[in-house]
Amino acid sequence: MQAGLAALAPMSSASLTPAQIVTELDRYIVGQGKAKRAVAIALRNRWRRQNLPPELRDEVAPKNIIMIGPTGVGKTEIARRLSRLAQAPFVKVEASKYTEVGYVGRDVESMIRDLTELGVNMVKAELMAQVQEKAERLAEDRLLDLLLPRTGAEPFGSASLEQVTAGASREATLDKLRAQLRAGRLDERMVELETQQQTMPMIEVLSGQGMEEMGIHLKDMLSNIMPTKTRRRRVRVADARKLLAQEEAAKLVDMEDVVAQAIRRVENSGIVFLDELDKVAGRQSAAHGPDVSREGVQRDLLPIVEGSAVTTKYGVVRTDHVLFIAAGAFHVAKPSDLIPELQGRFPIRVELEPLTREDFVRILTEPRNALVRQYVELLKTEGVTLRVLPEAVDAIAEIAMRVNESTENIGARRLYTVMEKLLEDISFDAPDLPGKELTIDAEYVRQRLAEIWRDQDLSRYIL
Ligand SMILES: Nc1ncnc2c1ncn2[C@@H]1O[C@H](COP(=O)(O)OP(=O)(O)OP(=O)(O)O)[C@@H](O)[C@H]1O
Ligand SMILES: [Mg+2]
Repeated sequence: MQAGLAALAPMSSASLTPAQIVTELDRYIVGQGKAKRAVAIALRNRWRRQNLPPELRDEVAPKNIIMIGPTGVGKTEIARRLSRLAQAPFVKVEASKYTEVGYVGRDVESMIRDLTELGVNMVKAELMAQVQEKAERLAEDRLLDLLLPRTGAEPFGSASLEQVTAGASREATLDKLRAQLRAGRLDERMVELETQQQTMPMIEVLSGQGMEEMGIHLKDMLSNIMPTKTRRRRVRVADARKLLAQEEAAKLVDMEDVVAQAIRRVENSGIVFLDELDKVAGRQSAAHGPDVSREGVQRDLLPIVEGSAVTTKYGVVRTDHVLFIAAGAFHVAKPSDLIPELQGRFPIRVELEPLTREDFVRILTEPRNALVRQYVELLKTEGVTLRVLPEAVDAIAEIAMRVNESTENIGARRLYTVMEKLLEDISFDAPDLPGKELTIDAEYVRQRLAEIWRDQDLSRYIL
């Protein structure tokens, strides 16, 4: 049992404390401390639960979260960054993309199927990495075989294998060849390889919308029937080595084992980020129209969030301990507009704060991927040195704030449009700029943008 548990999650994810998770998120997301703390605790709780005695472990349900906040303040961004940290199967889906069972569109169970697919790939990659060394040795042998066939036949490309002398024993020649191969001296030579491929034409088209369940079965059935096609092709030795190593690694891992581990991992540490949950909120406000199907989607979601068994092509996956983190702006619909059962399954509510002018300044400059940095680096590729003075950053933040106030508040997304407009000419002229050194000061920002934001109608279109 203990050994099985260890396989549930890779070590490193287990070791991230809530504080460490928050620190990681801080690198990319400004402010929103409450939301960061909540997701950090939820993540840590997965690890805690796995360290409980089995009888208790089953009792602890995940504490699902709803992140509520205006548009463009970092909800989705938190999810994106969290997914890299979680090191657990993690899918991000949009609630609004789903349709009620029976209607055209994706049914909600597909999110669990996606999660499982991801889990399988994850475990497979891990197990393949474990056998990598062995696989590489096997690949090397196969490659040597290709370069110097056992049969007396002419070795492929032998004309250029000058060391292969008629008198030398096969062993000696092999050793020489192996040494050359390892030194990378044969990398550029070509060999002919047989690679295996399953041909699966057209199925994607068939299994498209609304027929997911059927799609699975079709694919499975067909993958049993369809012959694996071997294809001969000429590749560089360096590439052949990688291809063969992959093939060998795949042979060395036991897919049944992979699937069993993956399902356990999905069931115990899987996370679904359910974005745009507010888009399916709202009940009975109208007796017809889209609201009917919205509530239908909520009803379909309920069993998955409450815990049910979903059939995937890898087997049945139970969702009782999958963590759901939902998000939504909820400025029209409120969480209380969700059906009560669903509300009950999301006990933790965190509000994200509207962003302030100071936040904008920080967002422009602090994160690793900060906008100002992006533009500076982009222009550097043209040999242009762009300096954006702090006073200019202040001015940009100020204008973004005001445009948000006077038109529509789209949060930090406004910074993208403002920056783009601000640097439009510079971007265009960059290759031909004389001197190639530019300093953006507050004056420049005002010059470029003041006209536009003063004219409300204009800013509605341009910024
Ligand atoms: N707090 C923040 N720190 C850093 N960047 C942010 C922050 N909030 C938003 N951004 C930037 O703005 C963009 C939009 O944010 P995000 O996608 O997280 O919005 P959202 O809260 O999910 O909004 P919506 O409700 O419209 O989906 C992100 O790509 C991100 O770069
Ligand atoms: Mg979003």
